[in-house]
Amino acid sequence: MDYYILTLFPEMVIQGLNASIIGRAKEKGILNIEAVNIRDYTKDRHQKVDDYPYGGGAGMVIQAQPVYDAFLAVKERIGFPPRTIYVTPQGKTFTQEMAKEFAKEDVLVFLCGHYEGVDERALEETVTDYVSIGDYVLTGGELPAMVMIDAISRMVPDVLTNEASGMFESFEGNLLEYPQYSRPYEWNGKTVPEALLSGDHQKIANWRREQSILRTKKRRPDLLAQADLTIREKAVYQVYEIGKKD
Ligand code: ADE
Repeated sequence: MDYYILTLFPEMVIQGLNASIIGRAKEKGILNIEAVNIRDYTKDRHQKVDDYPYGGGAGMVIQAQPVYDAFLAVKERIGFPPRTIYVTPQGKTFTQEMAKEFAKEDVLVFLCGHYEGVDERALEETVTDYVSIGDYVLTGGELPAMVMIDAISRMVPDVLTNEASGMFESFEGNLLEYPQYSRPYEWNGKTVPEALLSGDHQKIANWRREQSILRTKKRRPDLLAQADLTIREKAVYQVYEIGKKD
């Protein structure tokens, strides 16, 4: 997977994606992450990339020319028009499902805005997906791009060394993950649930499934309404479809 991040702050994204699992996947050549400095493409002799918004208002707008030329440089290098994500609070909210979907691409381009945004005409010419990481506003698109790259990269084959760790986890079937325990058996006066010590795989699986459902019901009832549950589970855990309370 090759990522290209169009940004005014390349050092921020490169530093942030160099550590831990993503850093290791880069070293192994499974991921390639390149930051493209939008400022390198400006034709302004003072290296300016932004200007006042037409119609007035606070803040500055990143101009179309440097953004479009930075995009064209990437497109020419790879030889086809890439899937291009503009990170913006005005986008569709990013989910685990979307992370899996994006992980199927060979190349992804992220465009990070700043200030009051990017000239709409450059967006119209380049962007395929408008994506937000949640209903709050950040100062720029770099952190959201890093969040998405992290979540997408976990879904790229061979990035997670322990294959199983990507298999059952939170959001699988719209359920949260069950609680985990490690040694010692007793800590701070608390012991590990007996079902996990039984060595009986079916019993352990049943206990974990129950914990997942109970945890989702308590912490994310909105998610549970869409979870993959059997009719029996729906009855036992009293899960009702929204709008059909009785
Ligand atoms: N840029 C600023 N805030 C954002 C958000 N919540 N998601 C994506 N990009 C953003």
